[in-house]
Amino acid sequence: MSAPIQQLRGLEILDSRGRPTVMARCRLRSGAIGRAAVPSGASRGAAEALELRDGDQTRYRGLGCRQAVAHLDGLIADAVVGRSFTDQAAFDQLLDTLDGTPNKARLGANATLAASLAFARASANDRDLPLYQYAAAMDTAPGVLELPRPMINLFSGGKHAGGQVPIQDLLIIPQATTMAGLLEQAVAVFQSAAEIMQQRYGMRLLTADEGGLAPPFPTLDALFEDALEAIERAGLRPGSDVRLAVDVAASHFYTGHAYQLGGRTLDGTAMIDQLAHWAEAYALASIEDGLAEDDWTHWSQLCTRLAAQTLIVGDDLLCTNPARIERAVRTAAANTLLLKVNQIGTLSEALAARRIARAAGWQVIVSARSGETEDSWLADLAVGWGGDQIKIGSVTQSERLAKYNRLLELERFDGIPLRKPT
Ligand code: PGA
Ligand code: ZN
Repeated sequence: MSAPIQQLRGLEILDSRGRPTVMARCRLRSGAIGRAAVPSGASRGAAEALELRDGDQTRYRGLGCRQAVAHLDGLIADAVVGRSFTDQAAFDQLLDTLDGTPNKARLGANATLAASLAFARASANDRDLPLYQYAAAMDTAPGVLELPRPMINLFSGGKHAGGQVPIQDLLIIPQATTMAGLLEQAVAVFQSAAEIMQQRYGMRLLTADEGGLAPPFPTLDALFEDALEAIERAGLRPGSDVRLAVDVAASHFYTGHAYQLGGRTLDGTAMIDQLAHWAEAYALASIEDGLAEDDWTHWSQLCTRLAAQTLIVGDDLLCTNPARIERAVRTAAANTLLLKVNQIGTLSEALAARRIARAAGWQVIVSARSGETEDSWLADLAVGWGGDQIKIGSVTQSERLAKYNRLLELERFDGIPLRKPT
């Protein structure tokens, strides 16, 4: 049982894109305090929970979060202040009931997640637990604690850059055996890539929302070839030292019946052929959102074709939504969950989504959003919930490094080992 909540408050703060987002602070009567800030996506799935924005064009181009903050200070605070909760699930259940809609449309998922996380932090602090241990204790069957393996943005296009290439992110997965070692590899590859960009495209170090490099690649294959070259230039071997992965974010170039890929129009079958070609030519470890979020039939065909050698990851497809994950399990449409807690709106619902994926034998990638804050809770969550991988962004920009640095801290000071590659 938690100590009674003494105060819950919300605050409009700014995220890494300079857009408003929500922070909450929860104080328990014991004196323990927890605060947390929520991220915000740009390349959103249609089935995500609602992020409440004010729509008042006189402030922050309509993106203000004063209503979400008012819900924290008003409806949510009124419902929780003075009360104790048996556990996180009971607190989150109250938020869900108070909201009463299927997608947090009343309170806003930015308000509910801020409350959920701030309560989690306050409760963890009250028990003198690091947040990753509190997260692990939320699970009924916590395994051995390990650090997730990072997949790191190298190049970006689509909605995370100027749309100069349709593919949203090309990621590297360094294979070193420690967190410190693999971040060193990632930075070496990033620096080599930046040199190539300068020489080949005359580009200064301009980066996309998540810190990836965003040059005007002449072709899609150049995106992959430049990545291979950057790995080799860093003195590493593609495949054995550093693997490649993509987030295609295909919903964003799908017209309802065809994929508009770099001047070509592909039907679902041709798009699968294209993905299979990349998977083989570049030994891709995973393909995220290779197809559009509602192209269910082709997702199953893609899995039949590639799931034996490549992780087929659902982000927009699944939206961390239990009903959509169940459908994907039933129809064998994916084999890996990209887990983003703000797609569903509370920690407990995200954990339920993860349980369904795990029960189906899927892998889980815990993911940040393109709009992030300096808060590092994502790293603790990924450790406590046994994420196989973590997707944070590039190895630049402090909103990304806050999470990587937390993982370094957990490796060195808390002695948590890095998960073996799977
Ligand atoms: P976001 O997308 O811009 O919605 O955070 C990140 C992703 O597609 O993985
Ligand atoms: Zn994605």
